[in-house]
This record gives sequence, structure tokens and C-alpha cells, in this order.
Amino acid sequence: MAVSAIFVGLYIPLNLVIDLGEYPIFVILYSIASVIFIADVFVEIFRFKRHVRSNNPFEPKATAGKFLPWFAVDMVAALPFMIFFPGSPFQLLKLFKLIKVGRFMHQISQQEVRLSQFLTISFFFFWLVHIAHWISCGWLGISNLNADFDISTTYVRALYWTVTTLTTVGYGDILPQTNVQMIYAMFVQLIGFAAFGYLIGDVVTLLSKKDPSTRQYLRNIESLSGALQIRDINKDLQKRILNYYNYLRKEKVGYDESYFLDGLPTTLKTEAELELKKNFIVGIPLFQNASIDFISRVAIKLELVIITPGEILMRQDDTGNEMYFIISGMLDVVRNGNPIFLLKEGDFFGEMSLVANKPRTATVKARSFCNLYRLERKTFEQIVSDFPEIIEQIKEKAKSRGMPPD
Ligand code: CMP
Repeated sequence: MAVSAIFVGLYIPLNLVIDLGEYPIFVILYSIASVIFIADVFVEIFRFKRHVRSNNPFEPKATAGKFLPWFAVDMVAALPFMIFFPGSPFQLLKLFKLIKVGRFMHQISQQEVRLSQFLTISFFFFWLVHIAHWISCGWLGISNLNADFDISTTYVRALYWTVTTLTTVGYGDILPQTNVQMIYAMFVQLIGFAAFGYLIGDVVTLLSKKDPSTRQYLRNIESLSGALQIRDINKDLQKRILNYYNYLRKEKVGYDESYFLDGLPTTLKTEAELELKKNFIVGIPLFQNASIDFISRVAIKLELVIITPGEILMRQDDTGNEMYFIISGMLDVVRNGNPIFLLKEGDFFGEMSLVANKPRTATVKARSFCNLYRLERKTFEQIVSDFPEIIEQIKEKAKSRGMPPD
């Protein structure tokens, strides 16, 4: 139906201004399209009946009020104009069918969010092609056709005029001569100007929508420059903030995933969260052989933390309320001012004060950008009671690192 509507949308206006009689293929295609339009009326009646009968509570019953306007469009489009009014502008009524195609595309883009960018572009081209074609037909309608040119050359020249005018290139080799043509040309220039603005706006939106980390990055940079205008932030801090945003963008981490998770029902949210964390969790040796139960109850509570080089995550002798797992990056363990160990991807730290309930035994400082997962004391205590085998492994590690005896 969509293909037929597109064909008819191109064929009818052209056939009104140029006699396409010498191309019988068009007449055949037009007849096929007309038959499809008639068949579509029956399909719509069938769909309406099924809708009314349906007892699906999630699908509100179709009301005649909603259905009738579109049914009228289908009926008008299905009228066999070719037989009753050959060559009359009434045929243009069939073009209403295109609105239905546009509406159909819009509905798909709402259901298939994945395809929405592709559909937005298709939608744009769909109307661009039609509008350029209709303008060309209009131009042919107000021009005296030159008998020296055959049909295809005549059409190509009209399309060429349209495109050069719409894009404001205007070579000026085909010029409006009569008043009507001049007014028409001004009208087309204005359409081109508006469409160009719309296109630029749309492309920018599409590009920035493309990837959530880029979108977040642009938003961050915007708020940073806003803050800089009203507050005096020192150059070094500015550089570090900018570095941090660049890191988030490069690693595609840190953008707020929670906004899409927040609205989900609990089970779906858990499943989505697990899926997001799964790749990181399998990189932590401690969790590699953990049960599904553990993963779904504990791993889900891990919170992503990103830190910048030089940042101190915990200080010796402070009270410890959380431990960390390293997804990427390196951190120095410093005791009494001396570096004693370099922690790397897959390691965990901060466990000693949780296990022994004592102050931090060392200071931990980031050497590079690090992606970490934080485990709060409350969750740690839950593991102690429910998953003793995991705690045993953590205790073993703490002992090997010289955890002070109880
Ligand atoms: P915690 O004492 O809670 O805080 C400092 C952390 O540094 C400590 O837990 C360990 O995770 C880590 N740490 C302390 N000493 C060593 C060591 N010798 N080797 C590796 N890591 C250590």
C-alpha cells in the first residue's frame, strides 16, 4: 500500500502537466496501485471489525469516530478516477493516501524506538522527494513546454530548476520569465530556506542523540562553560574537570543509565542492571565462580565510581565503610608515606577494615583514571551471613596482605 501510495503521489501530478500516454507501463502500474487501494478499503473494514470484537484490555476498542476520517481517505483514494474523470485534477485527492503512509511510518517509529533515527531520516527523504517532484510538476504547469525536448529531458530540466532553487544555488540558466513564474520561484526559494533550517536542526539533533555518552559529554561541557562564566575556577581544576569529561566520553562510561532504569518494574530493572554489569563482574576473579543467586543479590548493589589520577580514595586510620573492585586503572597503596603495593584491574581493596572492623591500614591513591565498583558495608554484611564462601576468600586475601590480628 505504501509503495502504491508513493507511486501514485509521483505519477498523478506529473501526468496532469505532461501527457505520459507514450509510457504504457505507467498506466499499468497506476491500475495496479488503484486495485491495491480498493483492496486496502476491505482490509481496513476487516481490521475495524476485529478491533471492535477484540476483548484485549490493553487495546482500547476502536471507536467509529477515530476510524471514520481515515476510512473516508481510503474511500476517496480508492475511487476509480481514471474511468470517471480521466485527466481531471480530482485525481489529486488520491494523494491523501500519502498522509496515511506518513502516519503509518510515524506509528512504526514510535513502536520501534531502535529504528526511530533511521525512520526520521527516511521520513525526511520521503517528503523531500515528493515536495521536489511536486514543485517540478508545478513549474512545468506554469511553463510553456519546449517542443524541442523529449518528456524525460523536460522533466529533468524542471527537477534541475527545482533543486537549484530549493538549495539556493540558483545557477540562473533556467529563469522565471512571467510574473506567475517569478512569484512561484520566490515561493520555492522560501520553502528551500525553511527546509534547509529544518534539516540542519534535525541533523544536529540526530548526531547528538546518537550516543548517550556524547550527549552527556555535550551537556557536561555546556554546564561547565556556564559555571565558568559566573564563577572563578582555577585553571588546574578546569583542566582536571575537562580531562574527566573527556575520559567519560572516551570510555563511554559514567553517563546516567539510571534514568532509563528508574521507570522500569523491579524484575525488568534487575535483569537490565545485571546485563549492564555482567561484563564487568566476570572480570573480577572473586566473582567468577559465584552463583547466580550471589550475582543477582549482591552484584546488583555494586555502584560504579570513576576517579581521576591523583585522587585519594581512602586515608590511613580513617574509618572504612566500603570496599572497592577495580574494573580498570591502577592505584597505589601507601602506608606511613611509603608506597607498598600497586593495585590493578581485577583486584579489590578496602576489605581489611570491613573484615576486622578496624580503621584503614593504608592510604589508597589513584595513579590513573579508574573505574571501580563500590560495595557498601551493609551489602558486605549481607554477604557475610548469606555467602560465607565468598567472605572466606576476601579474608584470605586480607590475611595475605598483613591484616592485623583481632
Ligand atoms: P583497608 O585497611 O580497609 O584500607 C586500605 C586498603 O589497602 C586495605 O584495606 C587493603 O585493601 C589495601 N592494602 C593494605 N595493605 C596492603 C598490601 N600490603 N598489599 C595490598 N593491598 C593492601
